[in-house]
Amino acid sequence: MKTQSIVSIDNLSKQEILDLLRDAEWFEQHPNHKILDGKVIATLFFEPSTRTRLSFETAVNRLGGRVIGFSDPAATSTSKGETLKDTIKMVSNYVDLIIMRHYLEGAAQYATEVTEVPVINAGDGAHQHPSQTMLDLYSIYKTQGRLDDITVTMVGDLKYGRTVHSLLQALSHFRVKFRFIACDELRMPREFISFCEQHGIDYEETTEFSPATISDTDILYMTRVQRERFADLSEYERVKDLYNLNNAMLAGTRENLRILHPLPRVNEIHVDVDDNPKAYYFQQAKNGLFARQAMICKCLGINPKDAASK
Ligand code: CP
Repeated sequence: MKTQSIVSIDNLSKQEILDLLRDAEWFEQHPNHKILDGKVIATLFFEPSTRTRLSFETAVNRLGGRVIGFSDPAATSTSKGETLKDTIKMVSNYVDLIIMRHYLEGAAQYATEVTEVPVINAGDGAHQHPSQTMLDLYSIYKTQGRLDDITVTMVGDLKYGRTVHSLLQALSHFRVKFRFIACDELRMPREFISFCEQHGIDYEETTEFSPATISDTDILYMTRVQRERFADLSEYERVKDLYNLNNAMLAGTRENLRILHPLPRVNEIHVDVDDNPKAYYFQQAKNGLFARQAMICKCLGINPKDAASK
């Protein structure tokens, strides 16, 4: 197998997505095989993270690889004016794979253009977050038993939310009906609405978040209004509290409904939802470990089962 970068979820075909889900399932059963022995992997986080960085690093550690990198660019030569290009070229001298989060849209794609080392995009601005998408797909598959014939309701910041953009594109391979719930300021961007129309994807948009608009939903995908994406903080203040889920709203929902959230949350899911069996966001974050183990192996050109059997 060849090495490859994953910058956007549309770098992956439907078959590759299904193969990664199968590998994630395998890693959930076998998370500690030392198949990355001798590999060094860089995690370069130019933006804050808890889950993505720690689960990627755990994934490497559990597979016997080594991690170098940073979580605070202020402690690197970036703060002395070193360019992203030079940073990537330098780090490429030391590692087999680069996992990078950056606040600029397109930064991960740019990184692939200045290095031969494969790159995984761990989030670039409001653009893409493909490893989040793989763990979201794995969570949907685990909880629903399928990816076809489901209704997915996305709520909150659909404008800046890179996770909803990536997930929408990934689910376009399957028969999924979408409902987009957002205020006018945070609507799903026109390009993704056009994407639905071009691909014959069934969708509806509404500003109303109520028991009625989630009663036929299988996956309720809540998102945080991302303060860090707003140029005008008064606009953030106006929209930040519009969509909040509480336990009472779940009374009439489907038995199989599961609530996902990429996390972190602020106040969009009340803590009284946490003990509801339909709350799945913490397990979802755990699934990130297995999905990311699968992605790391794919990007390094390693077939996990073959490598484990050697
Ligand atoms: N979901 C997600 O990307 O979380 P972090 O920002 O904590 O990595």
